[in-house]
Amino acid sequence: MDRQAQIDFILDHYENPRHYGPLPGATAVWKGGNRGCGDVVTFYLKVEPIGRIADISFEGEGCTISQASASYLSEFASGKTLDELGRLDHNDLIDALGREIVTQRTRCATLSLDTLRAAIRKRERELVAAQIKP
Ligand code: FES
Repeated sequence: MDRQAQIDFILDHYENPRHYGPLPGATAVWKGGNRGCGDVVTFYLKVEPIGRIADISFEGEGCTISQASASYLSEFASGKTLDELGRLDHNDLIDALGREIVTQRTRCATLSLDTLRAAIRKRERELVAAQIKP
């Protein structure tokens, strides 16, 4: 994509966020934020027992890049397995959003992925805790 197409891609996700809003019955919820600016993203997940994202949504407030990134990531993650998501790193997300556009704002771009990973880790901790309960 050329520079203008990347800008349009980000603006489209910001103005028309995918999978936006709370998710009733979510099995994992996590709110993440960037301390410096106060921008926030909350992910809601429903994870199948086999480790596939059955449903995902997000809510948030903040800059164009952080919210567009959360929208893109929610679309990307839908239907993926946790293993597949685990292979997505900051660089992959930055490339998907347009490295030239977000290179000065990488913390904005990666807030969504850090928050999604935290939601998944929380779910995994809860599963382990449930198994060791007497
Ligand atoms: Fe806060 Fe972008 S300015 S996440």
